[in-house]
Amino acid sequence: MLTKVKKVSPEEVLSNPKILKEAVELLRRGEIVAFPTETVYGLGANALDDKAILKVFEIKGRPSDNPLIVHLHSKNVIEQYAYITNEVEKHIIEKLTPGPLTIILKKKENISKYATAGLETVGIRIPYHPIAEKLIEIANVPVAAPSANISGKPSPNDAQSVIEDLSGKIPYIIDGGRTHIGIESTVVKVNELEDKYLVMILRPGFITKEDIEELFQEVETKKPVEVAYKEELEGKPLSPGMKYKHYSPKAHVIVVSNISKDFDNFAPQFKDKKCGILGRPNFVKELKTKLEVLSFNPQNIITLEWCKDDIIECARNLFFAYRYFDRENVDAIFVEKLNETGIEYAIMNRVKKSATYFI
Ligand code: TXA
Ligand code: MG
Repeated sequence: MLTKVKKVSPEEVLSNPKILKEAVELLRRGEIVAFPTETVYGLGANALDDKAILKVFEIKGRPSDNPLIVHLHSKNVIEQYAYITNEVEKHIIEKLTPGPLTIILKKKENISKYATAGLETVGIRIPYHPIAEKLIEIANVPVAAPSANISGKPSPNDAQSVIEDLSGKIPYIIDGGRTHIGIESTVVKVNELEDKYLVMILRPGFITKEDIEELFQEVETKKPVEVAYKEELEGKPLSPGMKYKHYSPKAHVIVVSNISKDFDNFAPQFKDKKCGILGRPNFVKELKTKLEVLSFNPQNIITLEWCKDDIIECARNLFFAYRYFDRENVDAIFVEKLNETGIEYAIMNRVKKSATYFI
Protein backbone atom coordinates (compact mmCIF):
# COMPACT_ATOMS: atom_id res chain seq x y z
CA MET A 1 0.00 0.00 0.00
CA LEU A 2 1.20 3.48 -0.82
CA THR A 3 1.24 5.81 2.18
CA LYS A 4 0.52 9.44 1.44
CA VAL A 5 2.10 11.94 3.81
CA LYS A 6 0.39 15.33 3.85
CA LYS A 7 2.12 18.25 5.54
CA VAL A 8 -0.41 20.55 7.20
CA SER A 9 0.02 23.27 9.80
CA PRO A 10 -2.55 23.99 12.52
CA GLU A 11 -2.94 27.52 11.09
CA GLU A 12 -3.74 26.19 7.61
CA VAL A 13 -6.38 23.88 9.02
CA LEU A 14 -8.05 26.70 10.92
CA SER A 15 -8.19 28.96 7.88
CA ASN A 16 -8.99 26.24 5.35
CA PRO A 17 -10.44 23.06 6.95
CA LYS A 18 -11.07 21.65 3.44
CA ILE A 19 -7.40 20.74 3.39
CA LEU A 20 -8.41 17.70 5.49
CA LYS A 21 -10.91 16.45 2.88
CA GLU A 22 -8.91 13.42 1.76
CA ALA A 23 -8.24 12.27 5.33
CA VAL A 24 -11.89 12.77 6.25
CA GLU A 25 -13.08 10.71 3.29
CA LEU A 26 -10.71 7.88 4.15
CA LEU A 27 -11.91 7.80 7.77
CA ARG A 28 -15.53 7.78 6.67
CA ARG A 29 -14.80 4.91 4.29
CA GLY A 30 -13.42 2.75 7.13
CA GLU A 31 -9.76 3.47 6.38
CA ILE A 32 -6.98 4.31 8.81
CA VAL A 33 -5.43 7.78 9.12
CA ALA A 34 -2.53 8.82 11.37
CA PHE A 35 -2.87 12.33 12.79
CA PRO A 36 -1.20 14.58 15.36
CA THR A 37 -2.65 15.38 18.77
CA GLU A 38 -1.10 17.50 21.52
CA THR A 39 0.32 14.35 23.19
CA VAL A 40 1.46 11.86 20.51
CA TYR A 41 0.34 10.89 17.00
CA GLY A 42 -2.77 8.70 16.87
CA LEU A 43 -3.75 5.92 14.49
CA GLY A 44 -7.36 6.83 13.80
CA ALA A 45 -10.33 4.74 12.72
CA ASN A 46 -14.11 5.19 12.84
CA ALA A 47 -15.11 3.89 16.30
CA LEU A 48 -18.54 2.85 15.02
CA ASP A 49 -17.08 0.56 12.37
CA ASP A 50 -16.00 -2.92 13.56
CA LYS A 51 -13.97 -3.65 10.44
CA ALA A 52 -12.00 -0.41 10.65
CA ILE A 53 -11.22 -1.08 14.32
CA LEU A 54 -10.00 -4.61 13.62
CA LYS A 55 -7.62 -3.17 11.01
CA VAL A 56 -6.07 -0.91 13.67
CA PHE A 57 -5.35 -3.89 15.94
CA GLU A 58 -3.81 -5.79 13.06
CA ILE A 59 -1.65 -2.93 11.78
CA LYS A 60 -0.28 -2.15 15.25
CA GLY A 61 0.18 -5.77 16.27
CA ARG A 62 -1.89 -4.87 19.32
CA PRO A 63 -3.24 -7.55 21.68
CA SER A 64 -7.02 -7.73 21.22
CA ASP A 65 -7.66 -7.34 24.98
CA ASN A 66 -6.17 -3.83 25.02
CA PRO A 67 -8.93 -1.26 24.40
CA LEU A 68 -8.55 1.90 22.29
CA ILE A 69 -9.30 5.47 23.33
CA VAL A 70 -12.19 7.13 21.50
CA HIS A 71 -11.52 10.73 20.44
CA LEU A 72 -14.29 13.32 20.07
CA HIS A 73 -14.11 16.90 18.79
CA SER A 74 -16.15 18.40 21.63
CA LYS A 75 -17.25 17.58 25.16
CA ASN A 76 -20.80 18.40 24.05
CA VAL A 77 -21.10 15.11 22.16
CA ILE A 78 -19.78 12.74 24.86
CA GLU A 79 -23.25 11.62 25.84
CA GLN A 80 -23.93 10.32 22.34
CA TYR A 81 -21.39 7.57 23.08
CA ALA A 82 -21.05 7.23 26.86
CA TYR A 83 -22.83 7.90 30.17
CA ILE A 84 -21.66 10.58 32.58
CA THR A 85 -22.85 9.06 35.83
CA ASN A 86 -21.70 11.36 38.63
CA GLU A 87 -20.70 14.92 39.50
CA VAL A 88 -16.97 14.15 39.67
CA GLU A 89 -16.87 12.83 36.11
CA LYS A 90 -18.81 15.93 35.10
CA HIS A 91 -16.33 18.32 36.77
CA ILE A 92 -13.30 16.53 35.32
CA ILE A 93 -14.80 16.81 31.83
CA GLU A 94 -15.81 20.42 32.33
CA LYS A 95 -12.49 21.63 33.73
CA LEU A 96 -9.82 19.38 32.23
CA THR A 97 -11.00 18.82 28.67
CA PRO A 98 -10.19 19.43 25.90
CA GLY A 99 -6.70 18.39 26.90
CA PRO A 100 -4.26 15.56 27.54
CA LEU A 101 -6.71 13.49 29.58
CA THR A 102 -8.75 10.36 28.94
CA ILE A 103 -11.73 9.56 31.14
CA ILE A 104 -13.10 6.04 31.38
CA LEU A 105 -16.91 6.12 31.23
CA LYS A 106 -19.71 3.58 30.89
CA LYS A 107 -20.07 2.97 27.15
CA LYS A 108 -23.15 3.18 24.98
CA GLU A 109 -24.05 0.44 22.52
CA ASN A 110 -23.00 2.25 19.33
CA ILE A 111 -19.24 2.17 20.02
CA SER A 112 -17.66 -0.92 18.45
CA LYS A 113 -17.11 -3.69 21.00
CA TYR A 114 -13.72 -4.32 19.41
CA ALA A 115 -12.63 -0.76 20.18
CA THR A 116 -13.29 -1.33 23.88
CA ALA A 117 -11.97 -4.93 23.86
CA GLY A 118 -15.37 -6.14 25.04
CA LEU A 119 -15.38 -3.95 28.18
CA GLU A 120 -18.48 -2.14 29.45
CA THR A 121 -16.45 1.08 29.57
CA VAL A 122 -14.88 3.37 27.00
CA GLY A 123 -11.94 5.78 27.27
CA ILE A 124 -13.05 9.20 26.00
CA ARG A 125 -10.62 11.94 25.04
CA ILE A 126 -11.09 15.38 23.50
CA PRO A 127 -7.70 16.36 22.10
CA TYR A 128 -6.51 19.96 22.32
CA HIS A 129 -5.06 20.25 18.83
CA PRO A 130 -6.61 22.07 15.85
CA ILE A 131 -5.79 19.31 13.36
CA ALA A 132 -7.22 16.51 15.51
CA GLU A 133 -10.23 18.60 16.46
CA LYS A 134 -11.13 19.60 12.89
CA LEU A 135 -10.48 16.14 11.48
CA ILE A 136 -12.88 14.53 13.96
CA GLU A 137 -15.44 17.30 13.66
CA ILE A 138 -15.61 17.18 9.85
CA ALA A 139 -15.52 13.38 9.69
CA ASN A 140 -18.46 13.53 12.08
CA VAL A 141 -17.67 10.15 13.65
CA PRO A 142 -15.97 9.24 16.94
CA VAL A 143 -12.35 8.34 16.17
CA ALA A 144 -10.73 5.44 18.01
CA ALA A 145 -6.99 6.02 18.06
CA PRO A 146 -4.15 4.28 19.82
CA SER A 147 -0.71 5.84 19.58
CA ALA A 148 0.52 5.48 15.98
CA ASN A 149 3.43 3.14 16.69
CA ILE A 150 3.96 -0.58 16.37
CA SER A 151 3.01 -2.13 19.75
CA GLY A 152 5.92 -2.03 22.19
CA LYS A 153 7.81 0.79 20.47
CA PRO A 154 8.03 4.39 21.72
CA SER A 155 4.98 6.50 20.87
CA PRO A 156 5.53 8.82 17.90
CA ASN A 157 6.14 12.54 18.44
CA ASP A 158 6.45 13.38 14.76
CA ALA A 159 5.41 12.11 11.34
CA GLN A 160 8.89 10.69 10.66
CA SER A 161 8.39 8.24 13.56
CA VAL A 162 4.99 7.18 12.22
CA ILE A 163 6.52 6.65 8.78
CA GLU A 164 9.26 4.45 10.29
CA ASP A 165 6.69 2.16 11.92
CA LEU A 166 3.73 2.22 9.54
CA SER A 167 4.78 3.23 6.05
CA GLY A 168 3.15 0.88 3.52
CA LYS A 169 0.60 -0.29 6.10
CA ILE A 170 -1.74 2.71 6.17
CA PRO A 171 -2.98 4.97 3.36
CA TYR A 172 -2.53 8.39 4.96
CA ILE A 173 -0.46 10.32 7.50
CA ILE A 174 -1.17 13.94 8.40
CA ASP A 175 2.19 15.55 9.19
CA GLY A 176 1.47 18.37 11.64
CA GLY A 177 5.01 18.66 13.01
CA ARG A 178 6.32 17.78 16.49
CA THR A 179 3.74 17.15 19.19
CA HIS A 180 3.78 19.58 22.06
CA ILE A 181 3.38 17.41 25.14
CA GLY A 182 5.18 14.28 23.99
CA ILE A 183 3.82 11.64 26.38
CA GLU A 184 0.36 10.08 26.22
CA SER A 185 -2.71 11.38 28.03
CA THR A 186 -3.44 10.82 31.72
CA VAL A 187 -6.07 8.05 31.99
CA VAL A 188 -8.55 8.42 34.86
CA LYS A 189 -11.53 6.47 36.13
CA VAL A 190 -13.92 7.61 38.87
CA ASN A 191 -15.26 5.15 41.43
CA GLU A 192 -18.21 6.29 43.50
CA LEU A 193 -17.97 4.66 46.92
CA GLU A 194 -20.32 4.95 49.89
CA ASP A 195 -18.36 7.66 51.68
CA LYS A 196 -16.21 9.20 48.93
CA TYR A 197 -15.33 9.47 45.28
CA LEU A 198 -12.09 7.80 44.29
CA VAL A 199 -10.41 9.20 41.18
CA MET A 200 -8.03 6.49 40.03
CA ILE A 201 -5.17 7.48 37.75
CA LEU A 202 -4.69 4.37 35.61
CA ARG A 203 -1.94 5.94 33.51
CA PRO A 204 -0.01 9.00 34.70
CA GLY A 205 0.45 11.88 32.26
CA PHE A 206 0.82 15.61 31.81
CA ILE A 207 -2.26 16.25 33.97
CA THR A 208 -1.01 15.19 37.38
CA LYS A 209 -2.51 13.87 40.61
CA GLU A 210 -1.79 17.29 42.12
CA ASP A 211 -3.71 19.04 39.28
CA ILE A 212 -6.80 16.89 39.93
CA GLU A 213 -6.56 17.36 43.70
CA GLU A 214 -6.36 21.10 43.21
CA LEU A 215 -9.43 21.06 41.00
CA PHE A 216 -11.48 19.42 43.75
CA GLN A 217 -10.30 21.94 46.32
CA GLU A 218 -12.05 24.54 44.19
CA VAL A 219 -15.33 22.78 43.39
CA GLU A 220 -17.95 21.59 45.87
CA THR A 221 -18.97 17.91 45.82
CA LYS A 222 -21.45 15.93 47.93
CA LYS A 223 -18.76 13.54 49.13
CA PRO A 224 -15.01 14.04 49.57
CA VAL A 225 -12.78 13.29 46.58
CA GLU A 226 -9.63 11.22 46.87
CA VAL A 227 -7.14 10.96 44.00
CA ALA A 228 -4.75 8.01 43.75
CA TYR A 229 -2.38 6.45 41.25
CA LYS A 230 -3.80 3.00 40.76
CA GLU A 231 -2.47 0.84 37.98
CA GLU A 232 -3.70 -2.36 39.60
CA LEU A 233 -6.55 -3.70 41.67
CA GLU A 234 -6.07 -7.04 43.43
CA GLY A 235 -3.07 -7.83 41.25
CA LYS A 236 -4.91 -7.18 37.97
CA PRO A 237 -4.14 -4.13 35.82
CA LEU A 238 -7.07 -1.70 35.69
CA SER A 239 -5.95 -0.45 32.31
CA PRO A 240 -5.19 -3.50 30.17
CA GLY A 241 -2.44 -1.65 28.29
CA MET A 242 -0.33 -1.17 31.40
CA LYS A 243 0.61 -4.85 31.66
CA TYR A 244 2.48 -4.91 28.35
CA LYS A 245 6.11 -3.96 27.79
CA HIS A 246 6.13 -0.48 26.40
CA TYR A 247 7.98 2.40 24.90
CA SER A 248 11.11 0.40 24.16
CA PRO A 249 13.83 1.59 21.86
CA LYS A 250 16.12 -1.09 20.40
CA ALA A 251 18.86 -0.12 22.84
CA HIS A 252 19.03 -1.19 26.48
CA VAL A 253 17.75 1.62 28.67
CA ILE A 254 19.77 2.08 31.86
CA VAL A 255 18.26 4.34 34.53
CA VAL A 256 21.03 6.06 36.47
CA SER A 257 20.07 7.41 39.90
CA ASN A 258 23.59 8.20 40.89
CA ILE A 259 27.01 8.10 39.34
CA SER A 260 28.60 6.08 42.11
CA LYS A 261 30.87 3.10 42.77
CA ASP A 262 28.04 0.79 41.64
CA PHE A 263 28.02 2.61 38.34
CA ASP A 264 31.80 2.10 37.97
CA ASN A 265 31.29 -1.64 38.41
CA PHE A 266 28.29 -1.85 36.10
CA ALA A 267 29.16 0.36 33.14
CA PRO A 268 32.31 -1.28 31.68
CA GLN A 269 30.23 -4.07 30.04
CA PHE A 270 29.17 -1.40 27.51
CA LYS A 271 32.67 -0.05 26.96
CA ASP A 272 33.00 -1.19 23.36
CA LYS A 273 29.41 -0.37 22.46
CA LYS A 274 27.78 2.72 21.06
CA CYS A 275 26.23 4.61 23.98
CA GLY A 276 23.69 7.39 24.35
CA ILE A 277 23.27 9.74 27.29
CA LEU A 278 19.91 11.42 27.99
CA GLY A 279 19.75 13.83 30.90
CA ARG A 280 19.69 17.41 32.02
CA PRO A 281 22.84 19.41 31.11
CA ASN A 282 24.76 18.74 34.36
CA PHE A 283 24.05 15.02 34.26
CA VAL A 284 25.13 14.76 30.63
CA LYS A 285 28.41 16.53 31.37
CA GLU A 286 29.13 14.48 34.48
CA LEU A 287 28.27 11.12 32.94
CA LYS A 288 30.24 11.77 29.75
CA THR A 289 33.31 12.61 31.83
CA LYS A 290 32.76 9.49 33.92
CA LEU A 291 32.50 7.23 30.85
CA GLU A 292 35.72 8.72 29.51
CA VAL A 293 37.44 8.07 32.83
CA LEU A 294 36.23 4.46 32.52
CA SER A 295 38.00 4.38 29.08
CA PHE A 296 34.90 4.52 26.87
CA ASN A 297 35.73 5.83 23.40
CA PRO A 298 34.36 9.43 23.23
CA GLN A 299 33.51 8.88 19.56
CA ASN A 300 31.07 6.15 20.56
CA ILE A 301 29.14 8.41 22.94
CA ILE A 302 26.16 10.44 21.72
CA THR A 303 24.65 12.91 24.15
CA LEU A 304 21.25 14.60 24.19
CA GLU A 305 20.21 17.32 26.60
CA TRP A 306 16.81 16.28 27.87
CA CYS A 307 15.72 19.84 28.60
CA LYS A 308 17.27 23.29 28.82
CA ASP A 309 15.43 24.74 31.78
CA ASP A 310 11.82 23.56 32.01
CA ILE A 311 11.12 19.98 33.11
CA ILE A 312 8.11 19.92 30.75
CA GLU A 313 10.59 19.65 27.89
CA CYS A 314 11.68 16.26 29.28
CA ALA A 315 8.22 14.87 28.50
CA ARG A 316 8.29 16.40 25.03
CA ASN A 317 11.73 15.00 24.26
CA LEU A 318 11.66 11.49 25.77
CA PHE A 319 10.25 9.36 22.94
CA PHE A 320 11.82 11.67 20.37
CA ALA A 321 15.21 10.96 21.98
CA TYR A 322 14.60 7.20 22.06
CA ARG A 323 13.82 7.22 18.35
CA TYR A 324 16.83 9.42 17.62
CA PHE A 325 19.13 6.98 19.45
CA ASP A 326 17.58 4.09 17.50
CA ARG A 327 18.37 5.82 14.20
CA GLU A 328 21.96 6.23 15.41
CA ASN A 329 22.08 2.48 16.23
CA VAL A 330 22.97 3.05 19.85
CA ASP A 331 23.30 -0.13 21.99
CA ALA A 332 22.74 1.39 25.43
CA ILE A 333 21.10 4.60 26.62
CA PHE A 334 21.98 6.00 30.04
CA VAL A 335 18.98 7.99 31.28
CA GLU A 336 19.02 10.32 34.25
CA LYS A 337 16.56 9.34 36.98
CA LEU A 338 14.22 12.23 37.72
CA ASN A 339 12.15 12.86 40.86
CA GLU A 340 8.83 11.08 41.01
CA THR A 341 6.34 13.83 41.66
CA GLY A 342 4.06 15.73 39.28
CA ILE A 343 4.96 15.53 35.61
CA GLU A 344 8.25 13.80 36.49
CA TYR A 345 6.24 10.85 37.84
CA ALA A 346 4.63 10.44 34.41
CA ILE A 347 7.97 10.70 32.62
CA MET A 348 9.63 8.17 34.94
CA ASN A 349 6.66 5.80 34.50
CA ARG A 350 7.57 5.56 30.80
CA VAL A 351 11.31 5.39 31.42
CA LYS A 352 10.91 2.54 33.91
CA LYS A 353 8.67 0.54 31.60
CA SER A 354 11.31 0.79 28.89
CA ALA A 355 14.31 0.04 31.12
CA THR A 356 16.46 -3.06 31.43
CA TYR A 357 18.75 -1.88 34.25
CA PHE A 358 18.50 0.45 37.25
CA ILE A 359 21.77 1.68 38.75
O1 TXA B 1 -2.48 10.61 24.41
C1 TXA B 1 -3.07 9.56 24.16
O2 TXA B 1 -3.84 9.02 24.96
C2 TXA B 1 -2.82 8.94 22.77
C3 TXA B 1 -3.37 9.88 21.72
C4 TXA B 1 -3.31 9.32 20.33
O3 TXA B 1 -4.66 10.26 22.06
N1 TXA B 1 -3.41 7.63 22.70
C5 TXA B 1 -2.92 6.55 23.36
O4 TXA B 1 -3.59 5.38 23.11
O5 TXA B 1 -1.96 6.60 24.10
P1 TXA B 1 -3.03 3.94 23.49
O6 TXA B 1 -3.96 3.01 22.82
O7 TXA B 1 -1.61 3.86 23.11
O8 TXA B 1 -3.23 3.83 25.03
C6 TXA B 1 -4.53 3.72 25.58
C7 TXA B 1 -4.48 3.31 27.03
C8 TXA B 1 -4.10 1.84 27.18
O9 TXA B 1 -3.27 1.69 28.32
C9 TXA B 1 -5.48 1.18 27.39
O10 TXA B 1 -5.39 -0.03 28.10
C10 TXA B 1 -6.21 2.27 28.18
O11 TXA B 1 -5.77 3.47 27.61
N2 TXA B 1 -7.67 2.14 28.04
C11 TXA B 1 -8.43 2.39 26.93
N3 TXA B 1 -9.72 2.11 27.17
C12 TXA B 1 -9.81 1.69 28.45
C13 TXA B 1 -10.89 1.24 29.30
N4 TXA B 1 -12.13 1.17 28.86
N5 TXA B 1 -10.59 0.86 30.57
C14 TXA B 1 -9.32 0.94 31.03
N6 TXA B 1 -8.26 1.35 30.28
C15 TXA B 1 -8.49 1.71 29.02
MG1 MG C 1 0.34 3.30 22.99
